[in-house]
Amino acid sequence: MAFQQRVFSGVQPTGNLHLGNYLGAIKRFVELQDSYDCLYCVVDLHAITVWQDPVELKRSIREVTAAYLAAGIDPKRHIVFNQSQVSGHAELAWVFNCVARLGWLNRMTQFKEKAGKDRENASVGLYAYPNLMAADILLYRATHVPVGEDQKQHLELARDIAQKFNNDFGTSIAANGLGETYFPLPEPLIGGPAARVMSLRDGSKKMSKSDPSDLSRINLSDDADAIASKVRKAKTDPEPLPGEVEGLKGRPEAENLVGIYAALSGTGKEEVLASFGGGQFSTFKGALVELAVDKLGPIGAEMKRLVADPGHIDAVLRDGADRARAMADVTMREVKDIVGLVR
Ligand code: TYM
Repeated sequence: MAFQQRVFSGVQPTGNLHLGNYLGAIKRFVELQDSYDCLYCVVDLHAITVWQDPVELKRSIREVTAAYLAAGIDPKRHIVFNQSQVSGHAELAWVFNCVARLGWLNRMTQFKEKAGKDRENASVGLYAYPNLMAADILLYRATHVPVGEDQKQHLELARDIAQKFNNDFGTSIAANGLGETYFPLPEPLIGGPAARVMSLRDGSKKMSKSDPSDLSRINLSDDADAIASKVRKAKTDPEPLPGEVEGLKGRPEAENLVGIYAALSGTGKEEVLASFGGGQFSTFKGALVELAVDKLGPIGAEMKRLVADPGHIDAVLRDGADRARAMADVTMREVKDIVGLVR
C-alpha cells in the first residue's frame, strides 16, 4: 500500500530552545512545508517524563509554539499543536507498550544518559519514552521524520514497532479490510551540516538544554550582544582554518563552527572553507557573529512578540489539536479494530 507522504516531528517544551534545536530540527521543519503535509507537535507528555514545574511548563509550551511560528511554520497550511490535547498519543503509546520488547528499550542510549547512575529512581515514563515517540509518528501514519542525529536510535525503534505491529496483526489487518500493512516504516530525515551541533565550550559534547553553562549554547531567545559574546568566547584551536573538509578531522570545535556557519547560510562546509580556509579564527568568528545575528535576531524578536500574546498562541494550538484529533481518531478506531478491542 502506498502511504501519503506526511511529516511528523516534535520538540520538548523543557526550556532553553537552542541553536541545535533550530538547525537540527526547526529550520528543517520550515523547509519541508512545500513538499509534505506536516504536523509539528509540542511534545508536552514527553517533557513530564522528568520533573517539570507546572507554571514553567505552560510557559515553555507557548514558547516552543512561538519558536515554530517565528521560524516560519504556517499553522494554517500545516498542523501545530501540543501532544497532551490529543488523547490518541497516550492511547496508542499503551498499545505500543504491549508491542515493544523490554530488550529493545534496554538498548536505548538516551534513557541510560538521562537516568544516569540512579536508574531505580527514574520514572517509568522516561523508560517508555520511545514508545510514546513511536505513537506520535504512527498515530498519523507519518512517512518522514526530520530530527537531529541524537534521535536516530528512537526512530529505528519506531520502525521496529511498526514492523512488529504489522507482522503480529497481519491477519487482522487484512480481515478488517485495511490492506496488507497498516503502519508505514517512517523514514528519518537526518542530515545537513548541523545534524549534530556541539557545545561551544567542548566540541565533544552535544549542544544541550541541560548543560549548566549558558556559554555552551546559543539560545533562540539570546539578543545580539549575547550571541556575539558566546561566539567570540567559543573554544577553538590555535591552527588557522583548513582549506578542505578533510582538514577538520580531529578538530571538533573548528568543525562545529564551520558546520554552524554552513547551516545558517544554507551552504556546505566545503563552501565555507573555500571562503575562510587559511584565515584566522578571529576573522571567521566575526563573520559568524554577523550571520548568526542576522538569521537568529529576527526569530528571537518575533518569539518575544508572540509570547506576549498567549491568547493567540493558545488559539493556534487549539485549532491544531482539533485538526490533529480528527486524524488521530480514525487511526485509533482502526487500531482498536485490528487489535480486537470491542467498541
Ligand atoms: P528534543 O526536544 O530533545 O529536541 C528537538 C529536536 O532538536 C534536535 N536537537 C539537535 N539537533 C542538532 N544538534 C543538537 N545539539 C540538537 N539537540 C537537539 C533533536 O534531534 C530533535 O529533532 N524525542 C524528541 C522529541 C520527539 C519527537 C517525536 C521527535 C517526541 N516525539 C516524534 C520526532 C518525532 C526530543 O526529545 O527532542
